[in-house]
Amino acid sequence: MHDTLADDLSRLPELLRSAQEFAARELEGLADRPVARLAGPPAANPVPVTGTGARGALARFAERWAPGFSASAGPRYLGFVTGGATPAALIGDWLTSTFDQNVSGGGDSSATALERETVRWLRGLFGLSDAHSGAFVTGATVSNTVGLAVAREWLGERRGVSVSRQGTAALGPVRVLSGSPHSSIPKAMSVLGIGRDSLRTVPVLPGGREAVDVGALAAALHELDGRPAIVVANAGTVNTVDFDDLRAIAALKERYGFWLHVDAAFGGFAALSPSYAHLTEGLDAADSVCVDLHKWLNVPYDAAVQFTRRQDLQVRVFHNSSPYLGMPTGDPDFLHLTPENSRRLRALAAWFSLTAYGADGHREIVERNAALARRLGERIEAAPHLRLLAPVRLNVVCFTLAGNPTWERVHAAGRAIAASGEAFVTPTFFDGRHGLRAAFSNWRTTEADTDRVLDAVVRCTEG
Ligand SMILES: Cc1ncc(COP(=O)(O)O)c(C=O)c1O
Repeated sequence: MHDTLADDLSRLPELLRSAQEFAARELEGLADRPVARLAGPPAANPVPVTGTGARGALARFAERWAPGFSASAGPRYLGFVTGGATPAALIGDWLTSTFDQNVSGGGDSSATALERETVRWLRGLFGLSDAHSGAFVTGATVSNTVGLAVAREWLGERRGVSVSRQGTAALGPVRVLSGSPHSSIPKAMSVLGIGRDSLRTVPVLPGGREAVDVGALAAALHELDGRPAIVVANAGTVNTVDFDDLRAIAALKERYGFWLHVDAAFGGFAALSPSYAHLTEGLDAADSVCVDLHKWLNVPYDAAVQFTRRQDLQVRVFHNSSPYLGMPTGDPDFLHLTPENSRRLRALAAWFSLTAYGADGHREIVERNAALARRLGERIEAAPHLRLLAPVRLNVVCFTLAGNPTWERVHAAGRAIAASGEAFVTPTFFDGRHGLRAAFSNWRTTEADTDRVLDAVVRCTEG
């Protein structure tokens, strides 16, 4: 063994303690350090020929890189939809690396059973029946991609071909219908050979809504003249957290043949709260469902779950049979269900957080975030130089500047807010206007944080 490696091995407990102390210091200061770091990275270094050992690597990281990292795990980072990591989730994540299990097959470890248990818990939280099987993937984009891959195989089944064997050419043209699809949907279509141009955007409800007009969707399905299609419904759109009427869409299945995929990346968490659960009614009728966990479950990146009612089709697409890996059985190993073959035990962080805080603890996070979004929304509405672009429906405040909110003005405001170090929000374009989004999904955010965000927003947008 290399001398430095042997030395590290002999001092492993001590090295872990210094990493733990460093992590604890970072997390202690998380709420107070600048939310965004805009200075840019340090100059690139060549690969070291002689290593420093783990202690030296930690010192170099602390000096060269850590100061440039954002406080995205903290309470006032409201860009994109960025959850943090609950204490238990963080411990679960550390232990994932400690045990370094490969959750591809189940022969040698109980890790596969832990992932299955976690999937069952999540299924219950989101109101899905046991007709849905599930698996962990890296994020909502991959979850959407897996859902659409299974949908593509289903279309093949309806047309009497096997896409997984014969390729997409055998399938012919595909139609994907959706009201306000997230950008990961056309990306998934591109990856799957369906093609981005096969997406048909269906009109949404009037009055600044992002939810699909179910009548218009029925008309679009009718126009297909019996040809099967894929419908992507949305449970929580990214700009205004609007929800499609899932029950009404599912009812259309009685008249038209389509695969219903629901992108519930973060909106699915509405199901955890009695106040918001009605928004996700009908989710169980979906053929496939995407839920992101590194958003509102507050587990570290990267983790999402995908559910489907047709595991048999999923196995057809993703099976990875070989003498050394085994064949899919009645309860297939995860390597036959997801794009990855070797897989990290990313379920462990979710298992820890659900075990530590339960459905109740996670409901509280959802309800507090929603209440804070409402608080910010009310105050933004009261500011004479700001305008809400949409009502605050759940956890996102979408707003803009009074007057003419040009791209330049809105982006300058976003940059000024980030430069203040107090808050981070991200720009968007909604209903014909440039605007900013503040998305609440972090477990630590308080009323005091929300008021600091408001102060920064007001200060940086005045004048
Ligand atoms: C509705 C929705 N779908 C999909 C995604 C993609 O998520 P990820 O970045 O985890 O792939 C997002 C991300 O914000 C989202 O909000």
